[in-house]
Amino acid sequence: METLVTDSPAHAATFVADGRLVAFPTETVYGVGAPAFNPHLIRRIFDVKGRPSDNPLIVHIGRKADFGLIGSIPNDYTKALVDAFFPGPLTVVVPRTGAVPDVVTAGLDTVAIRMPDHPVGRAFLLACDTPMAAPSANLSGRPSPTTWSAVLQDLGGRIPCILNGGRSKVGLESTVVDCTGDSPVILRSGAYSLRELQKVVPTCTQVSQDELTSLKSPGVHHKHYAPNATVVVVNGEWPPAFERKSGYIGLEQLPPDKECDLVHVCADVEEYGRLLFSFFRECEDRGLPTIYCLKPSLDGLGMAIADRLTRAAAATADISSAAR
Ligand code: TXA
Ligand code: MG
Repeated sequence: METLVTDSPAHAATFVADGRLVAFPTETVYGVGAPAFNPHLIRRIFDVKGRPSDNPLIVHIGRKADFGLIGSIPNDYTKALVDAFFPGPLTVVVPRTGAVPDVVTAGLDTVAIRMPDHPVGRAFLLACDTPMAAPSANLSGRPSPTTWSAVLQDLGGRIPCILNGGRSKVGLESTVVDCTGDSPVILRSGAYSLRELQKVVPTCTQVSQDELTSLKSPGVHHKHYAPNATVVVVNGEWPPAFERKSGYIGLEQLPPDKECDLVHVCADVEEYGRLLFSFFRECEDRGLPTIYCLKPSLDGLGMAIADRLTRAAAATADISSAAR
């Protein structure tokens, strides 16, 4: 199958109208989507990504008025979060309507909903004129794509169309918040920090890593964010020696005695978030088997970056032991 790359939301939407999958840009990462009420086409998403079927999808809406087609707003704090953060990189998990097929929610009675804040992505959703179920547009287990070329690398030949909207400006996925309990609980850290959410709903909390393995957010225990290289998280202490062929990304300069083939020192935590996944892919393209990543402090976006680094390191640990 040939994969067309287009800049036109209206052109991309014609593929959806023809019952075909389209990858589209959002401010976090690119997604690959199908109409939320088309279970047949949604199953294709799981096929092309190699995604486990127990990992539910986020439904993307182009206008707030479509929320009620998918889910209900169960309480006042959910209304406050939606009012404050839609459109934007926040996903709310709420009770679903009967119209949502089981394949979207992996059989759960809740559904994840978000309204992206990206001009091209929004224009596409509005042109499709239906809420779109969409996971990140990478092969399952790989780093999320933040450019059309990263989507092409993973899904080229498997999907017919990629809508180009430039580089995603956040670069990390949305914050996923469970809104079904007495107070909101962050299930996946992301673009909005706990502190930002607490400014609107002070009772908001974050689940610990251990609690996460329980059933609330089924996807979180799968392998995630892993490039074809070993990710080493540098936390507090530099490794005594660096592997010869390696990359480095972080907020601090490398110590003078360390050398890497590809070095990216980020100006701030926002740049770190924006470039992390594309840096993984760049190291991969250059055949660098080891990627050193300096763990940032956990304020703001630092929490989400640290989360992605920990998971990528865990997922690639076997690559390193196999290589040695
Ligand atoms: O920024 C994003 O969120 C991107 C862009 C494309 O919107 N999407 C994304 O989708 O990261 P995906 O499929 O890679 O991650 C969806 C996350 C998973 O952790 C999944 O378990 C969780 O959302 N999720 C989806 N539905 C859920 C539900 N009903 N209850 C709990 N967690 C849910
Ligand atoms: Mg994903």
